Amino acid sequence: MDKILVQGGHRLVGTVQVSGAKNAALPILASALLCDGPNTFTNVPILRDIQSTLQLLSHLGARCDMQGHTVQVDAGGLNTHEAPYDLVRKMRASILVLGPLVARLKKARVSLPGGCAIGARPINLHLRGLELLGAQIDLSHGYVEASCERLRGAEIYFDMVTVTGTENIMMAAVLAEGRTVLRNAACEPEVTALADVLNKMGARIQGAGTPEIVIQGVEQLHPISAAIISDRIEAGTLMTAAALTQGDVIVQGAEPENLEAVIHKLRLAGTQVDVNGNQIRVQGQRPIHSVDVKTLPYPGFPTDMQAQFMVLMTVARGSCLISETIFENRFIHVSELQRMGADIAVTGNSALIKGVARLSGAPVMASDLRASACLILAGLVADNTTEVNRVYHLDRGYEALEVKFQQLGAAIRRAKA
Ligand code: EPU
Repeated sequence: MDKILVQGGHRLVGTVQVSGAKNAALPILASALLCDGPNTFTNVPILRDIQSTLQLLSHLGARCDMQGHTVQVDAGGLNTHEAPYDLVRKMRASILVLGPLVARLKKARVSLPGGCAIGARPINLHLRGLELLGAQIDLSHGYVEASCERLRGAEIYFDMVTVTGTENIMMAAVLAEGRTVLRNAACEPEVTALADVLNKMGARIQGAGTPEIVIQGVEQLHPISAAIISDRIEAGTLMTAAALTQGDVIVQGAEPENLEAVIHKLRLAGTQVDVNGNQIRVQGQRPIHSVDVKTLPYPGFPTDMQAQFMVLMTVARGSCLISETIFENRFIHVSELQRMGADIAVTGNSALIKGVARLSGAPVMASDLRASACLILAGLVADNTTEVNRVYHLDRGYEALEVKFQQLGAAIRRAKA
Protein backbone atom coordinates (compact mmCIF):
# COMPACT_ATOMS: atom_id res chain seq x y z
CA MET A 1 0.00 0.00 0.00
CA ASP A 2 1.35 3.44 -0.92
CA LYS A 3 1.97 6.36 1.38
CA ILE A 4 2.79 9.99 0.65
CA LEU A 5 5.75 11.72 2.26
CA VAL A 6 5.71 15.51 2.46
CA GLN A 7 8.57 17.66 3.65
CA GLY A 8 6.94 20.94 4.67
CA GLY A 9 8.11 24.50 4.22
CA HIS A 10 8.21 24.99 0.45
CA ARG A 11 6.23 27.76 -1.25
CA LEU A 12 4.14 26.54 -4.18
CA VAL A 13 4.91 28.51 -7.32
CA GLY A 14 3.93 27.96 -10.95
CA THR A 15 1.03 26.89 -13.13
CA VAL A 16 -1.08 23.79 -12.65
CA GLN A 17 -3.80 22.22 -14.78
CA VAL A 18 -7.10 21.08 -13.24
CA SER A 19 -8.35 17.61 -14.23
CA GLY A 20 -11.87 16.61 -15.19
CA ALA A 21 -14.43 16.41 -12.38
CA LYS A 22 -14.85 13.00 -10.79
CA ASN A 23 -18.35 13.80 -9.56
CA ALA A 24 -19.44 14.94 -13.02
CA ALA A 25 -17.78 11.99 -14.80
CA LEU A 26 -19.43 9.31 -12.62
CA PRO A 27 -23.09 10.14 -13.42
CA ILE A 28 -22.21 10.97 -17.04
CA LEU A 29 -20.60 7.55 -17.55
CA ALA A 30 -23.72 5.96 -16.01
CA SER A 31 -25.92 8.00 -18.38
CA ALA A 32 -24.37 6.10 -21.31
CA LEU A 33 -26.55 3.16 -20.21
CA LEU A 34 -29.56 5.10 -21.45
CA CYS A 35 -28.81 4.66 -25.15
CA ASP A 36 -27.45 2.25 -27.76
CA GLY A 37 -24.22 3.08 -29.57
CA PRO A 38 -20.81 4.51 -28.75
CA ASN A 39 -20.64 7.57 -26.51
CA THR A 40 -17.29 9.33 -26.31
CA PHE A 41 -16.32 11.30 -23.24
CA THR A 42 -13.16 13.39 -23.11
CA ASN A 43 -11.34 15.02 -20.18
CA VAL A 44 -12.23 12.04 -17.97
CA PRO A 45 -9.90 12.00 -14.95
CA ILE A 46 -7.74 8.90 -14.49
CA LEU A 47 -8.93 7.71 -11.09
CA ARG A 48 -9.81 4.55 -9.24
CA ASP A 49 -13.48 5.56 -9.03
CA ILE A 50 -13.57 5.86 -12.82
CA GLN A 51 -12.05 2.38 -13.18
CA SER A 52 -14.64 1.03 -10.72
CA THR A 53 -17.45 2.61 -12.75
CA LEU A 54 -16.14 1.18 -16.03
CA GLN A 55 -15.86 -2.24 -14.39
CA LEU A 56 -19.48 -2.00 -13.31
CA LEU A 57 -20.69 -0.80 -16.73
CA SER A 58 -18.74 -3.66 -18.39
CA HIS A 59 -20.35 -6.12 -15.99
CA LEU A 60 -23.75 -4.83 -17.12
CA GLY A 61 -22.84 -5.60 -20.73
CA ALA A 62 -21.61 -2.21 -21.94
CA ARG A 63 -18.43 -2.07 -24.05
CA CYS A 64 -16.00 0.31 -22.33
CA ASP A 65 -12.64 1.52 -23.45
CA MET A 66 -10.38 4.10 -21.81
CA GLN A 67 -7.41 5.59 -23.70
CA GLY A 68 -5.76 8.33 -21.66
CA HIS A 69 -8.51 10.77 -20.72
CA THR A 70 -10.94 9.58 -23.39
CA VAL A 71 -13.57 6.99 -22.58
CA GLN A 72 -15.96 5.22 -24.92
CA VAL A 73 -19.04 3.52 -23.56
CA ASP A 74 -21.43 1.60 -25.79
CA ALA A 75 -24.39 0.13 -23.93
CA GLY A 76 -25.88 -1.50 -27.05
CA GLY A 77 -25.15 -4.89 -25.50
CA LEU A 78 -26.67 -4.13 -22.10
CA ASN A 79 -27.67 -7.57 -20.86
CA THR A 80 -27.73 -7.61 -17.06
CA HIS A 81 -29.85 -5.60 -14.66
CA GLU A 82 -27.85 -6.54 -11.59
CA ALA A 83 -25.09 -4.47 -9.96
CA PRO A 84 -23.55 -6.91 -7.48
CA TYR A 85 -22.26 -6.17 -3.98
CA ASP A 86 -18.64 -6.81 -4.90
CA LEU A 87 -18.66 -3.97 -7.41
CA VAL A 88 -20.95 -1.55 -5.52
CA ARG A 89 -19.10 -1.80 -2.20
CA LYS A 90 -15.97 -0.34 -3.82
CA MET A 91 -17.79 2.87 -4.58
CA ARG A 92 -21.08 4.28 -3.29
CA ALA A 93 -21.65 6.22 -6.51
CA SER A 94 -22.41 2.87 -8.19
CA ILE A 95 -25.99 3.58 -7.12
CA LEU A 96 -26.05 5.93 -10.13
CA VAL A 97 -26.77 2.95 -12.40
CA LEU A 98 -30.13 2.39 -10.68
CA GLY A 99 -32.07 5.14 -12.48
CA PRO A 100 -30.68 4.36 -15.95
CA LEU A 101 -31.23 0.59 -15.56
CA VAL A 102 -34.88 0.98 -14.55
CA ALA A 103 -35.46 3.47 -17.37
CA ARG A 104 -33.81 1.27 -19.98
CA LEU A 105 -34.56 -2.32 -18.87
CA LYS A 106 -37.65 -1.71 -16.67
CA LYS A 107 -35.89 -3.52 -13.89
CA ALA A 108 -32.77 -3.26 -11.77
CA ARG A 109 -31.19 -5.13 -8.91
CA VAL A 110 -28.51 -3.02 -7.27
CA SER A 111 -26.66 -3.75 -4.06
CA LEU A 112 -27.38 -1.21 -1.31
CA PRO A 113 -24.22 0.89 -0.96
CA GLY A 114 -24.29 1.19 2.83
CA GLY A 115 -22.62 3.96 4.82
CA CYS A 116 -19.06 5.20 4.67
CA ALA A 117 -16.61 6.96 6.96
CA ILE A 118 -18.28 10.37 6.59
CA GLY A 119 -21.86 9.31 7.35
CA ALA A 120 -24.73 6.84 7.03
CA ARG A 121 -25.61 8.17 3.58
CA PRO A 122 -29.04 6.62 3.03
CA ILE A 123 -30.60 6.44 -0.45
CA ASN A 124 -34.24 6.72 0.64
CA LEU A 125 -34.79 9.80 -1.53
CA HIS A 126 -33.51 8.00 -4.65
CA LEU A 127 -35.95 5.16 -3.93
CA ARG A 128 -38.88 7.45 -3.12
CA GLY A 129 -38.30 9.32 -6.38
CA LEU A 130 -38.33 6.11 -8.40
CA GLU A 131 -41.51 4.98 -6.63
CA LEU A 132 -43.19 8.24 -7.55
CA LEU A 133 -42.18 7.60 -11.17
CA GLY A 134 -44.08 4.31 -10.92
CA ALA A 135 -41.37 1.79 -10.04
CA GLN A 136 -42.05 -0.90 -7.50
CA ILE A 137 -39.22 -1.06 -4.98
CA ASP A 138 -38.32 -4.01 -2.79
CA LEU A 139 -35.39 -4.25 -0.43
CA SER A 140 -34.12 -7.72 0.33
CA HIS A 141 -30.83 -9.46 1.04
CA GLY A 142 -28.95 -6.16 0.88
CA TYR A 143 -30.24 -5.33 -2.60
CA VAL A 144 -32.69 -2.81 -4.05
CA GLU A 145 -34.97 -4.41 -6.59
CA ALA A 146 -36.85 -2.00 -8.80
CA SER A 147 -39.26 -2.85 -11.58
CA CYS A 148 -41.95 -1.18 -13.63
CA GLU A 149 -44.11 -1.53 -16.74
CA ARG A 150 -43.14 1.93 -17.85
CA LEU A 151 -41.97 4.90 -15.81
CA ARG A 152 -44.43 7.79 -15.78
CA GLY A 153 -43.64 11.46 -15.15
CA ALA A 154 -44.40 12.75 -11.65
CA GLU A 155 -43.96 15.69 -9.31
CA ILE A 156 -41.15 14.88 -6.91
CA TYR A 157 -40.15 16.97 -3.93
CA PHE A 158 -36.82 16.10 -2.31
CA ASP A 159 -36.95 16.46 1.49
CA MET A 160 -33.21 17.15 1.47
CA VAL A 161 -30.94 18.37 -1.27
CA THR A 162 -29.28 15.27 -2.69
CA VAL A 163 -26.77 15.41 -5.52
CA THR A 164 -26.71 11.80 -6.73
CA GLY A 165 -30.41 11.47 -5.82
CA THR A 166 -31.27 14.33 -8.20
CA GLU A 167 -29.00 12.79 -10.86
CA ASN A 168 -30.48 9.30 -10.52
CA ILE A 169 -34.08 10.50 -10.79
CA MET A 170 -33.23 12.85 -13.65
CA MET A 171 -31.71 9.91 -15.57
CA ALA A 172 -34.79 7.77 -14.90
CA ALA A 173 -37.23 10.54 -15.86
CA VAL A 174 -35.71 11.33 -19.26
CA LEU A 175 -37.22 8.12 -20.69
CA ALA A 176 -40.43 8.24 -18.61
CA GLU A 177 -43.78 8.92 -20.22
CA GLY A 178 -44.80 12.56 -19.73
CA ARG A 179 -43.53 15.36 -17.58
CA THR A 180 -41.54 15.15 -14.37
CA VAL A 181 -40.90 18.07 -12.06
CA LEU A 182 -38.11 17.82 -9.49
CA ARG A 183 -38.44 20.30 -6.61
CA ASN A 184 -35.69 21.16 -4.13
CA ALA A 185 -33.33 19.57 -6.64
CA ALA A 186 -29.57 19.85 -6.17
CA CYS A 187 -28.09 22.84 -8.04
CA GLU A 188 -24.50 21.54 -8.12
CA PRO A 189 -22.58 22.18 -11.38
CA GLU A 190 -22.22 18.39 -11.75
CA VAL A 191 -26.04 18.10 -11.98
CA THR A 192 -26.07 20.78 -14.69
CA ALA A 193 -23.23 19.00 -16.52
CA LEU A 194 -25.23 15.76 -16.51
CA ALA A 195 -28.35 17.55 -17.76
CA ASP A 196 -26.31 19.11 -20.59
CA VAL A 197 -25.06 15.66 -21.62
CA LEU A 198 -28.56 14.16 -21.45
CA ASN A 199 -29.99 17.03 -23.51
CA LYS A 200 -27.26 16.47 -26.08
CA MET A 201 -28.40 12.83 -26.20
CA GLY A 202 -31.90 14.06 -27.04
CA ALA A 203 -33.46 14.47 -23.60
CA ARG A 204 -35.67 17.46 -22.79
CA ILE A 205 -34.54 18.86 -19.45
CA GLN A 206 -35.02 22.45 -18.35
CA GLY A 207 -33.98 24.24 -15.19
CA ALA A 208 -30.92 22.20 -14.23
CA GLY A 209 -28.79 24.34 -11.94
CA THR A 210 -31.94 25.64 -10.19
CA PRO A 211 -34.03 23.92 -7.49
CA GLU A 212 -36.79 23.15 -10.02
CA ILE A 213 -35.97 20.85 -12.90
CA VAL A 214 -38.60 20.01 -15.50
CA ILE A 215 -38.12 16.92 -17.65
CA GLN A 216 -40.30 16.03 -20.61
CA GLY A 217 -39.83 12.32 -21.26
CA VAL A 218 -38.73 11.15 -24.73
CA GLU A 219 -38.90 7.72 -26.43
CA GLN A 220 -35.17 7.22 -26.83
CA LEU A 221 -31.76 8.85 -26.65
CA HIS A 222 -28.82 8.75 -29.05
CA PRO A 223 -25.05 8.50 -28.42
CA ILE A 224 -22.92 11.63 -28.30
CA SER A 225 -19.45 13.03 -27.65
CA ALA A 226 -18.97 15.33 -24.67
CA ALA A 227 -16.19 16.74 -22.50
CA ILE A 228 -16.27 16.45 -18.72
CA ILE A 229 -16.24 19.81 -16.87
CA SER A 230 -13.23 20.62 -14.72
CA ASP A 231 -13.07 19.55 -11.10
CA ARG A 232 -14.03 22.48 -8.85
CA ILE A 233 -12.98 20.60 -5.72
CA GLU A 234 -9.54 19.78 -7.09
CA ALA A 235 -9.21 23.44 -8.16
CA GLY A 236 -10.26 24.58 -4.68
CA THR A 237 -7.77 22.18 -3.10
CA LEU A 238 -4.90 23.55 -5.24
CA MET A 239 -5.98 27.13 -4.51
CA THR A 240 -6.07 26.50 -0.77
CA ALA A 241 -2.61 24.89 -0.94
CA ALA A 242 -1.29 28.02 -2.67
CA ALA A 243 -2.84 30.25 0.00
CA LEU A 244 -1.47 28.07 2.78
CA THR A 245 2.15 28.02 1.56
CA GLN A 246 2.23 31.77 0.76
CA GLY A 247 2.58 30.58 -2.80
CA ASP A 248 1.89 32.14 -6.18
CA VAL A 249 -0.01 29.65 -8.30
CA ILE A 250 -2.03 29.90 -11.49
CA VAL A 251 -4.75 27.25 -11.53
CA GLN A 252 -5.51 26.66 -15.18
CA GLY A 253 -8.62 25.17 -16.77
CA ALA A 254 -10.79 26.00 -13.77
CA GLU A 255 -14.40 27.18 -13.99
CA PRO A 256 -14.33 30.14 -11.57
CA GLU A 257 -18.11 30.59 -11.71
CA ASN A 258 -18.40 27.21 -9.95
CA LEU A 259 -15.97 28.28 -7.22
CA GLU A 260 -17.51 31.49 -5.94
CA ALA A 261 -17.97 30.41 -2.31
CA VAL A 262 -14.39 29.12 -2.09
CA ILE A 263 -12.93 32.23 -3.74
CA HIS A 264 -14.98 34.43 -1.40
CA LYS A 265 -13.69 32.65 1.73
CA LEU A 266 -10.08 32.64 0.48
CA ARG A 267 -10.28 36.39 -0.08
CA LEU A 268 -11.73 36.94 3.40
CA ALA A 269 -8.77 34.94 4.72
CA GLY A 270 -6.51 37.56 3.13
CA THR A 271 -5.52 35.61 0.00
CA GLN A 272 -5.13 37.50 -3.24
CA VAL A 273 -7.30 35.74 -5.85
CA ASP A 274 -7.41 37.05 -9.43
CA VAL A 275 -9.68 35.51 -12.02
CA ASN A 276 -8.89 35.78 -15.70
CA GLY A 277 -11.08 33.60 -17.90
CA ASN A 278 -10.45 30.02 -16.86
CA GLN A 279 -7.26 30.91 -15.00
CA ILE A 280 -7.26 31.67 -11.31
CA ARG A 281 -4.13 33.20 -9.82
CA VAL A 282 -3.79 32.67 -6.09
CA GLN A 283 -1.18 34.54 -4.05
CA GLY A 284 -0.99 33.59 -0.40
CA GLN A 285 -0.43 36.44 2.06
CA ARG A 286 0.50 36.64 5.74
CA PRO A 287 -1.17 36.85 8.13
CA ILE A 288 -3.96 34.45 7.22
CA HIS A 289 -7.21 35.74 8.74
CA SER A 290 -9.64 33.44 10.54
CA VAL A 291 -12.94 33.02 8.69
CA ASP A 292 -16.08 31.17 9.79
CA VAL A 293 -17.35 28.60 7.31
CA LYS A 294 -20.59 26.63 7.09
CA THR A 295 -20.91 23.90 4.51
CA LEU A 296 -24.11 24.05 2.45
CA PRO A 297 -25.52 22.67 -0.78
CA TYR A 298 -24.33 24.58 -3.87
CA PRO A 299 -23.93 27.54 -4.26
CA GLY A 300 -22.92 27.41 -0.59
CA PHE A 301 -19.46 26.38 0.60
CA PRO A 302 -18.89 22.74 -0.47
CA THR A 303 -18.56 20.03 2.15
CA ASP A 304 -15.92 18.53 -0.14
CA MET A 305 -13.69 21.57 0.62
CA GLN A 306 -14.30 21.67 4.38
CA ALA A 307 -11.29 19.57 5.43
CA GLN A 308 -8.85 21.44 3.16
CA PHE A 309 -10.08 24.88 4.29
CA MET A 310 -9.78 23.77 7.89
CA VAL A 311 -6.02 23.30 7.41
CA LEU A 312 -5.72 26.93 6.30
CA MET A 313 -7.58 28.00 9.44
CA THR A 314 -5.28 25.96 11.72
CA VAL A 315 -2.45 28.42 10.95
CA ALA A 316 -4.59 31.57 10.72
CA ARG A 317 -4.48 34.48 13.17
CA GLY A 318 -7.39 34.27 15.63
CA SER A 319 -10.14 31.69 15.88
CA CYS A 320 -13.08 30.60 13.79
CA LEU A 321 -15.93 28.15 13.62
CA ILE A 322 -16.35 25.61 10.85
CA SER A 323 -19.80 24.00 10.75
CA GLU A 324 -20.52 20.87 8.74
CA THR A 325 -24.20 20.65 7.82
CA ILE A 326 -24.18 18.01 5.06
CA PHE A 327 -22.61 14.90 6.60
CA GLU A 328 -22.84 13.89 10.25
CA ASN A 329 -19.31 12.53 10.60
CA ARG A 330 -17.08 14.64 8.41
CA PHE A 331 -14.57 15.74 11.05
CA ILE A 332 -12.49 12.55 11.16
CA HIS A 333 -9.48 14.50 9.90
CA VAL A 334 -9.59 16.67 13.05
CA SER A 335 -7.90 14.12 15.30
CA GLU A 336 -5.09 13.72 12.76
CA LEU A 337 -4.66 17.51 12.50
CA GLN A 338 -4.54 17.66 16.32
CA ARG A 339 -1.69 15.16 16.24
CA MET A 340 0.11 17.65 14.01
CA GLY A 341 -0.33 20.38 16.62
CA ALA A 342 -3.57 22.02 15.45
CA ASP A 343 -5.81 23.53 18.14
CA ILE A 344 -9.32 22.32 17.28
CA ALA A 345 -12.27 21.56 19.55
CA VAL A 346 -15.29 19.81 18.08
CA THR A 347 -18.77 20.15 19.52
CA GLY A 348 -21.52 18.45 17.56
CA ASN A 349 -21.26 19.59 13.97
CA SER A 350 -18.99 22.56 14.70
CA ALA A 351 -15.25 22.80 15.03
CA LEU A 352 -13.67 25.72 16.89
CA ILE A 353 -10.23 26.34 15.45
CA LYS A 354 -7.65 28.54 17.15
CA GLY A 355 -4.78 29.34 14.86
CA VAL A 356 -1.33 28.13 15.91
CA ALA A 357 2.08 29.39 14.77
CA ARG A 358 3.05 26.16 13.07
CA LEU A 359 2.07 22.56 12.46
CA SER A 360 4.42 19.72 13.20
CA GLY A 361 5.02 16.84 10.75
CA ALA A 362 3.79 13.42 11.89
CA PRO A 363 2.65 10.06 10.56
CA VAL A 364 -1.10 10.37 9.92
CA MET A 365 -3.91 8.25 8.55
CA ALA A 366 -6.31 9.32 5.80
CA SER A 367 -9.92 8.31 6.48
CA ASP A 368 -11.60 9.43 3.25
CA LEU A 369 -10.88 11.19 0.01
CA ARG A 370 -11.01 14.83 1.13
CA ALA A 371 -9.36 14.05 4.48
CA SER A 372 -6.38 12.65 2.58
CA ALA A 373 -6.03 15.91 0.62
CA CYS A 374 -6.34 17.86 3.88
CA LEU A 375 -3.48 15.92 5.48
CA ILE A 376 -1.24 16.48 2.47
CA LEU A 377 -2.00 20.20 2.68
CA ALA A 378 -1.11 20.17 6.37
CA GLY A 379 2.16 18.42 5.48
CA LEU A 380 3.01 21.22 3.03
CA VAL A 381 3.30 23.73 5.90
CA ALA A 382 4.31 21.46 8.78
CA ASP A 383 7.90 21.23 9.93
CA ASN A 384 9.81 18.02 9.16
CA THR A 385 8.13 15.15 7.37
CA THR A 386 4.47 14.21 7.29
CA GLU A 387 3.69 10.66 6.29
CA VAL A 388 0.14 10.22 4.97
CA ASN A 389 -1.00 6.61 5.09
CA ARG A 390 -4.00 4.93 3.41
CA VAL A 391 -3.43 6.88 0.24
CA TYR A 392 -5.85 4.68 -1.68
CA HIS A 393 -8.53 7.16 -0.60
CA LEU A 394 -6.64 9.90 -2.45
CA ASP A 395 -6.32 7.83 -5.61
CA ARG A 396 -10.08 7.38 -5.77
CA GLY A 397 -10.62 11.04 -6.52
CA TYR A 398 -7.48 13.11 -7.19
CA GLU A 399 -5.52 12.56 -10.38
CA ALA A 400 -1.78 12.57 -9.61
CA LEU A 401 -2.12 15.21 -6.90
CA GLU A 402 1.40 14.63 -5.60
CA VAL A 403 2.83 15.08 -9.11
CA LYS A 404 0.98 18.39 -9.45
CA PHE A 405 2.40 19.56 -6.12
CA GLN A 406 5.90 18.42 -7.16
CA GLN A 407 5.60 20.53 -10.31
CA LEU A 408 4.76 23.51 -8.10
CA GLY A 409 7.90 22.97 -6.01
CA ALA A 410 6.66 20.90 -3.08
CA ALA A 411 8.95 18.26 -1.57
CA ILE A 412 6.48 15.42 -1.84
CA ARG A 413 6.79 11.83 -3.01
CA ARG A 414 4.93 8.56 -3.04
CA ALA A 415 6.52 5.55 -1.40
CA LYS A 416 5.58 1.95 -0.70
CA ALA A 417 4.33 1.60 2.87
N1 EPU B 1 -29.39 11.95 1.99
C1 EPU B 1 -30.48 11.33 2.55
N2 EPU B 1 -31.21 10.48 1.74
C2 EPU B 1 -30.90 10.26 0.45
C3 EPU B 1 -29.78 10.91 -0.11
C4 EPU B 1 -29.05 11.77 0.69
O1 EPU B 1 -30.79 11.50 3.71
O2 EPU B 1 -31.59 9.49 -0.21
C5 EPU B 1 -28.58 12.86 2.83
C6 EPU B 1 -27.13 12.37 3.01
O3 EPU B 1 -27.01 11.42 4.04
C7 EPU B 1 -26.41 13.67 3.29
C8 EPU B 1 -27.17 14.69 2.44
O4 EPU B 1 -28.43 14.09 2.15
O5 EPU B 1 -26.55 14.00 4.65
C9 EPU B 1 -26.50 15.05 1.12
O6 EPU B 1 -26.07 13.88 0.46
P1 EPU B 1 -26.01 13.75 -1.12
O7 EPU B 1 -26.99 12.73 -1.55
O8 EPU B 1 -26.09 15.10 -1.75
O9 EPU B 1 -24.55 13.16 -1.31
P2 EPU B 1 -24.13 12.18 -2.47
O10 EPU B 1 -24.93 12.47 -3.67
O11 EPU B 1 -24.07 10.80 -1.94
C10 EPU B 1 -22.34 13.73 -3.60
C11 EPU B 1 -20.88 13.63 -3.90
C12 EPU B 1 -20.10 13.77 -2.59
C13 EPU B 1 -20.44 15.12 -1.98
C14 EPU B 1 -21.97 15.22 -1.74
C15 EPU B 1 -22.42 16.56 -1.21
C16 EPU B 1 -20.82 12.26 -5.86
C17 EPU B 1 -20.46 10.97 -6.49
N3 EPU B 1 -20.59 12.38 -4.56
O12 EPU B 1 -22.63 12.63 -2.72
O13 EPU B 1 -18.72 13.74 -2.93
O14 EPU B 1 -19.80 15.26 -0.74
O15 EPU B 1 -22.65 14.98 -2.99
O16 EPU B 1 -22.02 17.58 -2.06
O17 EPU B 1 -21.26 13.16 -6.55
C18 EPU B 1 -16.43 13.40 -2.55
O18 EPU B 1 -16.24 13.63 -3.75
O19 EPU B 1 -15.48 13.33 -1.72
C19 EPU B 1 -17.79 13.21 -2.07
C20 EPU B 1 -18.08 12.61 -0.91
